[in-house]
Amino acid sequence: RPRVFSGIQPTADSFHLGNYLGALREWVAMQGEYETFYCVVDLHAITVAQDPELLRKRTRLSAAQLLALGIDPDRSTLFVQSHVPEHAQLSWVLECQTGFGEASRMTQFKDKAARQDAEHVGVGLFTYPALMAADILLYQADAVPVGEDQRQHLELTRNLAQRFNSRFGETFTVPAAHIPKSTAKIYDLQDPNAKMSKSVPSGVIELLEDPKRSAKKIRSAVTDTGREIVYDPENKPGVSNLLAIYSSLTDRTVDELQAAYEGKGYGDLKKDLGEVVVEFATPLQEKVRGYLDDPAELDKVLRRGAEHAREVATRTLRTVFDRVGFLSPA
Ligand code: TYM
Repeated sequence: RPRVFSGIQPTADSFHLGNYLGALREWVAMQGEYETFYCVVDLHAITVAQDPELLRKRTRLSAAQLLALGIDPDRSTLFVQSHVPEHAQLSWVLECQTGFGEASRMTQFKDKAARQDAEHVGVGLFTYPALMAADILLYQADAVPVGEDQRQHLELTRNLAQRFNSRFGETFTVPAAHIPKSTAKIYDLQDPNAKMSKSVPSGVIELLEDPKRSAKKIRSAVTDTGREIVYDPENKPGVSNLLAIYSSLTDRTVDELQAAYEGKGYGDLKKDLGEVVVEFATPLQEKVRGYLDDPAELDKVLRRGAEHAREVATRTLRTVFDRVGFLSPA
């Protein structure tokens, strides 16, 4: 079976609808057909200032949400990045293959760095994409389900894999980005030109917030001039975003929705979508609470995941160390 790897940062108390529709829904769907490795990337989470107690809590919360969303630990390897030290070790080797210029061109680095003053931008934020490449390449992943905002990092990962292979001999599988079509980028409800994001929390639907609050946010989402409910991302980004969310949460096509809302107003659409979100989030939150109620079991699942991940990761790292010319320690 082809392999899949993907990761998510434990940097908020809740995942948001963009995480789910852009990536996590694919994670769940790819189980079975692929051999799947899913990782809570806590090493990445410390590239910006973090509170230790909060990081621990959010790492467990992340794992609980992944399980509740349908990641099945019997079919997927679910683990925490820092439990597998090979990630940091391969990252170093890849950093040494990464050009300063190409790392400087990463738009996510530029955006994040611009939001902080220069004194507080750590080197880790700069080398972040090499660690992400290490995550993926350690598992020889064929496909990486992510949202549109990770496309550039995936491109860098592919370049690093090819560069390493041509310098040192075939070592890494060159992975392909797996980016969903209609939900690759979910937009902020208050600013439909910006992506929904944990770091700009105005129009963000959090999976674990009070569902009534989510419904209210949807009712007050910014919509466009005119009154027709049509999917037209160019001219009607607000309505189109709502239609994309609606369609993917209900599996009704955008065409079906357009037909169903012909002659109706934005208010009707928003009210109904609010209900759809409540119906999605309520049982999910119940499940998350169930997993959090048994932290010992949760930790056991993660330990088992890390053990299996390590078996695969050690094999790749051993080959890499040998290829670059490190003397075997044994
Ligand atoms: P992170 O934690 O920011 O986000 C997790 C996933 O959610 C997707 N996403 C979105 N998709 C659609 N619309 C949005 N508004 C939206 N916001 C977020 C992201 O694209 C991502 O797939 N660098 C990664 C974590 C990572 C990783 C990896 C991913 C580390 N190592 C290896 C894949 C493979 C990140 O910060 O994602």
